[in-house]
Amino acid sequence: MRERRASRWRERRRARTFVGALLACLVVSGCQPYVRISTEVRDAYEPLPGFAVRMNFMPRKPHADEGRRIYEARCAVCHGPEGQGDGPMAAQLTAPEKNPYTDFLSLFRIHPRSEPLPSRPARFDNLDQMRLNAPFALFETIARGRPHTAMPGFQHPAYGAVDGGDPRLSDQQIWDVLFWEWSRTTTRERLAQGRRIYNQLCASCHGVAGDGNGPEAARIREQVWTWGRGVGPGIFTDRDWMAYRKPVELYQRVAEGVRRRGLELMPAYAGRLSPDEIWTVVEYLWTFVYTPPQELRP
Ligand code: HEC
Ligand code: HEC
Repeated sequence: MRERRASRWRERRRARTFVGALLACLVVSGCQPYVRISTEVRDAYEPLPGFAVRMNFMPRKPHADEGRRIYEARCAVCHGPEGQGDGPMAAQLTAPEKNPYTDFLSLFRIHPRSEPLPSRPARFDNLDQMRLNAPFALFETIARGRPHTAMPGFQHPAYGAVDGGDPRLSDQQIWDVLFWEWSRTTTRERLAQGRRIYNQLCASCHGVAGDGNGPEAARIREQVWTWGRGVGPGIFTDRDWMAYRKPVELYQRVAEGVRRRGLELMPAYAGRLSPDEIWTVVEYLWTFVYTPPQELRP
């Protein structure tokens, strides 16, 4: 009897504690500063303000002929006259401080004397490598150099990379020279073929000038807000955007097309064009970003 009363009393006390805690919570939450978290309702395609910013990485369209002059003066000794990695210095180049054997031993403070490893200059006609590169990646390499290789930095050598010496290259000079290197991935005939296919299949949307002003673009501007602003994917004259794009990514879009929210924004061309034809178009797309050298122009 006594025990039962004691347990009922304990239960009641627990309930009272619970109600008390609940009230405390309500009071505390009621005292919080008032924050308005709702914003006006906006259309799904309306961008957040300030999102479509032009960075102006390349204020002027890079010009490969300008780049060639810089290339011949500063880069050809290693990379070779045509960018095939066969300059007069190429054979003697070594990788500073790069040797797995001595690096390992140096952990134990043993420093044997040994031959440094060779460092091979990149070939710009190496498609497997160049098609995986975005222009920005080349820009970084040229500006900062590549540590533990012979590739010097020509603007702000960083991470212990070799110093390319004076005069420093300006941003524009780096863009010019890297697009001359970029132009080693194509030929005049390939660009001509790419242009034919582009004007026939792609210009209706993307515009003859690659600026997204084709006859069908009015409809697309209603569906894709970036097109309404003349920036972003599919606007090949948006150099800020293209600086980050890799040729393999562009290839993939052309082959697979673009669908979003159940809408076919762009058809897939894998069935209609051969892989090599798609590559010629992708190579042509870059001519909206930079002016190809004289010998590649029509
Ligand atoms: C002293 C020799 C030397 C000079 C001069 C030199 N390079 Fe290089 N460069 C190299 C080497 C070596 C590599 C390969 C680095 C590696 O192994 O990753 C390289 C790599 C590169 C790469 C990276 C390619 C890639 O696919 O990742 C770029 C871009 C490049 N060089 C551009 C230039 C430009 C532009 C100049 C002139 C302004 C220049 N280089 C001058 C030796 C040189
Ligand atoms: C029906 C219109 C239309 C046609 C025709 C068309 N495109 Fe597109 N394309 C678009 C739209 C719209 C986008 C942008 C999609 C998005 O916002 O991601 C786009 C995106 C792209 C992209 C991706 C760009 C990037 O940075 O991701 C590439 C590359 C491209 N188009 C190339 C081509 C080529 C080459 C052809 C012709 C063989 C072609 N397009 C034909 C409408 C079209």
